[in-house]
Amino acid sequence: MTKTIMVSNQKGGVGKTTTTLELGAIYARKGKRVLVIDLDGQVNLSMYVNAKYDDKNIPTIRDVLLEIKEILKQSELEITNDMEDGEDDIITRSIQTTDEGFDIIAGHRNLSNALAEFSDTTDVFLLKELISCLDDYDYILIDSAPARSPLLNMGYVAADYCLILTEADKASQDGVKQVVTDIKLLKKSKMSNIVILGILLNKNEDLKNQEEAYEDLCVFGKTNGCMPFETIIGKAASATTAKNMYKSIHAYRDTKGINKRSVQGILADFENLAIEIEKRIKKLEK
Ligand SMILES: Nc1ncnc2c1ncn2[C@@H]1O[C@H](COP(=O)(O)OP(=O)(O)OP(=O)(O)O)[C@@H](O)[C@H]1O
Ligand SMILES: [Mg+2]
Repeated sequence: MTKTIMVSNQKGGVGKTTTTLELGAIYARKGKRVLVIDLDGQVNLSMYVNAKYDDKNIPTIRDVLLEIKEILKQSELEITNDMEDGEDDIITRSIQTTDEGFDIIAGHRNLSNALAEFSDTTDVFLLKELISCLDDYDYILIDSAPARSPLLNMGYVAADYCLILTEADKASQDGVKQVVTDIKLLKKSKMSNIVILGILLNKNEDLKNQEEAYEDLCVFGKTNGCMPFETIIGKAASATTAKNMYKSIHAYRDTKGINKRSVQGILADFENLAIEIEKRIKKLEK
């Protein structure tokens, strides 16, 4: 069964896109069928994998969600019963393959306008509707934007699991609390069944304040049922260098002339994370 994982924290720059990209690349290399959805108007992830996000012939996630919205509206009025055909067509056209081995539905600049375009109460179910049509994948990973918006709620409603990213600083940790609060509210109103898989500490530098941050996350996790991952992602310049070359760290490692030792640490961190995620899911689904 497809596992849909939302990568989240409305605090900017904590590593959501990096983590989504690396996990996508790792699972694809393991032979898993992976789809990544870029739910961010910054379209960073789409850029990093050379996906087209401004080509009129290739629907983006915004086009797909708007089309589903339209089709559902029509079907409510019983104008057509071709809903599934219509959805299938635009969904198929929106899926792009990447050199990383995973598929992507690209983001769109206008996603930043979500409040205007997806403000109906029922819009919160649009992404869930899309995902219910995508049963060919082992993993669907959703990269989210650094802002609370209808899109973020759509993600929490659509996904099975949430992975919350944070750095050691207080603002990022406050973002973690906001995510947990938002999810609790959606679950209370029975709109979401999402389970917080864990909190991931990123850009670790082995400093004392980072240890304290991890301890704080453990305390918070215990009372809120969302323990931090044992895996911590170290800070490494290659995380940025790879993306500047439009590659995941794995693909960057395989590039000719690269000092492979310089990426070993961070690659191992992300690989450990991928394993820990699988273990946590397995335990939850036992
Ligand atoms: N482990 C890491 N070590 C060093 N740099 C990192 C690491 N993880 C991410 N970065 C860098 O931090 C910056 C922000 O990362 P990223 O874009 O993944 O964050 P984000 O949460 O998606 O940001 P936004 O909220 O703007 O979408 C990027 O330059 C990225 O390369
Ligand atoms: Mg991002």
